[in-house]
Amino acid sequence: MKAEPCAPLSVCLLFKQHPRTYKIMPIGIFDSGYGGLTILKEIASKMPQYDYVYLGDNARAPYGSRSFDIVYDFTLQAVKALFGRGCHLVILACNTASAKALRSIQQNDLPVIDPSRRVLGVIRPTVEILPEVSKTKHIGLLATPGTVASHSYAMELEKMDPEMKIVEHACPMWVPIIENCEADSPGADYFVKKYIDEIMSADPEIDTLVLGCTHYPLLINKIRQYTPNGVCIFEQGRRVAESLADYLKRHPEIDVKCQKNGDIEFLTTESPKKFDSLASLFLGKEVKSSRIVLPG
Ligand code: DGL
Repeated sequence: MKAEPCAPLSVCLLFKQHPRTYKIMPIGIFDSGYGGLTILKEIASKMPQYDYVYLGDNARAPYGSRSFDIVYDFTLQAVKALFGRGCHLVILACNTASAKALRSIQQNDLPVIDPSRRVLGVIRPTVEILPEVSKTKHIGLLATPGTVASHSYAMELEKMDPEMKIVEHACPMWVPIIENCEADSPGADYFVKKYIDEIMSADPEIDTLVLGCTHYPLLINKIRQYTPNGVCIFEQGRRVAESLADYLKRHPEIDVKCQKNGDIEFLTTESPKKFDSLASLFLGKEVKSSRIVLPG
């Protein structure tokens, strides 16, 4: 068990906080399963000095076809579990949770649970950069049915640049394929080609395909294979990492509460053995997770 240092006196004085009023803790990263690892990988590579605790709700993944209420309930349980482990900042490294639960958690739950804690999502930082990425101003969004039904991307993009057009296309089979370790199977070829053909024929002017689900980079080789030449495939991990680094610079009062030993802890609601084999394949290093039971 590691020591949990308190904020140094100088920092407490700077932010007018009484010394020892909070513990310095890891940043929480949450996803329904393995997908958030694509975000964690980029965040940890940009900010290796921070500590992170990753929570994958693999036992209940996928979230993508679940109702609004269920995704909200599951996400809130996970956020509370990460808060229970001391995290002051939690990133929903999941588009479906960001689309269906983030706003309610920020507006209704945080003020009651603890207004000093923060929960951030992945949709806003992704959308912010799209006007710079697309030349034709025609974007294709590949996402879970839940993210598509929420129209969160379309609404955020409209605020950013009303001239931009977006086709939101659901890919309900991609996450089950990934969560069931079938990303290299002929079934994966079939469903990757199918959804890309469908979105490109809905709007041939699309020049940027956004992978609006953190799982999808696990299918990147096949997605590249079936995407027409000249169309950019936008993976959000790096962008989310840049946005988080910028956020922490702008919010030193949160940054001082984030532990910086360069450690990562992994939690899964499924079997740790199963999680570790796929997670380490993806992260390129040994992963040793523990099981967590999320209180209902
Ligand atoms: N990785 C998640 C996302 O970004 C959720 C996928 C799922 O569980 O269906 O949407």
